[in-house]
Amino acid sequence: MEVKTIREKFKSLYGSDGATYTSPGRINLIGEHTDYNGGFVLPGAIDKAMYCVIKPNGSDRIRAYAMDLSETDEFGLDDIPVKQWSKYIFGVCNEMIKRGKKVEGFDCVFAGDVPLGAGMSSSAALESCFGFAINDMYGLGFDRFELALTGQATEHNYVGVKCGIMDQFASCFGKEGSLIRLDCRSLEYEYVPFDPAGYRLVLLNTCVAHELASSAYNKRRESCENAASHIRKYHPEVELLRDATLDMLKEVANEVSAEDYIRAEFVIEEIQRLQDACKALEQGDYETVGKKMYETHIGLSRKYEVSCEELDFLNNIARECGVTGSRVMGGGFGGCTINLVKDGLYDGFIKRATEAYEQKFKIKPKVYGVVIRDGARKLQE
Ligand code: GLA
Repeated sequence: MEVKTIREKFKSLYGSDGATYTSPGRINLIGEHTDYNGGFVLPGAIDKAMYCVIKPNGSDRIRAYAMDLSETDEFGLDDIPVKQWSKYIFGVCNEMIKRGKKVEGFDCVFAGDVPLGAGMSSSAALESCFGFAINDMYGLGFDRFELALTGQATEHNYVGVKCGIMDQFASCFGKEGSLIRLDCRSLEYEYVPFDPAGYRLVLLNTCVAHELASSAYNKRRESCENAASHIRKYHPEVELLRDATLDMLKEVANEVSAEDYIRAEFVIEEIQRLQDACKALEQGDYETVGKKMYETHIGLSRKYEVSCEELDFLNNIARECGVTGSRVMGGGFGGCTINLVKDGLYDGFIKRATEAYEQKFKIKPKVYGVVIRDGARKLQE
């Protein structure tokens, strides 16, 4: 959908022009389920984003139109709205109010092209888009760190997903052509230029999203925290799994459940894998990066158990086609694989993967070439 169309809709609904803001979805090259363990991630903002047109309306109510769904809602800032998408807007406003700021009523229209449930962070894009817009519109003075944290708190307190900071951070801090190497504990970050000559990065969307994904996600987080708390009894310096080693985990093998053990093992290994992949990236060694991506997939599938038949199928085909790296991306339970493919193999891989997938699952997977773009911003009229 074009921005012009969203602006026209705003005008036809509310009778005047509003300001336009956008914030993108993200990819993550490697480092999955490490963020809420205080580890590292390597995301980048992409060219698929959420857009909103917005204007204060002088009242204490929010009037919103979700253009992709053709749905309207109106709510005050005191009572939690019923509609799921309204909760995101309400949550962002309330988290800002909790932080001592004054947020008043506004009118808005929003739409986007980040596929839902695809592991590309459509919800973080929505939170960051509204966070950036409301902050700018009322001059609230939040910086991008605080906006990312406000979005994350919205997930925790109004949506019920105990997510880490990666998605909101990437949406707020994205930079064209660069990945972000983020330390999720200190929030120190570094832009890593990413333009792998001779390779392409492509997402294949299984177009399946599993319903219990958010409760399963929260359960993974609990397992990690539980393992960390057992290790802490013997190693008080271990605040999160980021601080633990495999040897420390072995020491508590008899105290934690087999399930918690294997989840924690994955996370400790994944934090190391990311470090190895970053070193390889510095040397332009994409073959090693790709190898690490496959290892991540195996870990996510067998140890963390967040893959599914459809994702494993696409991962296998990548392997068979000689693709350099491939893995499930994001929270898992459906969504996309991210693939690092040599130029010469690209067309053959896409053809084979789409045909075989369609034959087996009777749905066409969607293919998105990755373009790395800037994060949250205001669009000029
Ligand atoms: C989701 C969460 C993130 C992160 C990833 C897995 O996208 O929102 O915080 O945990 O899953 O890496």
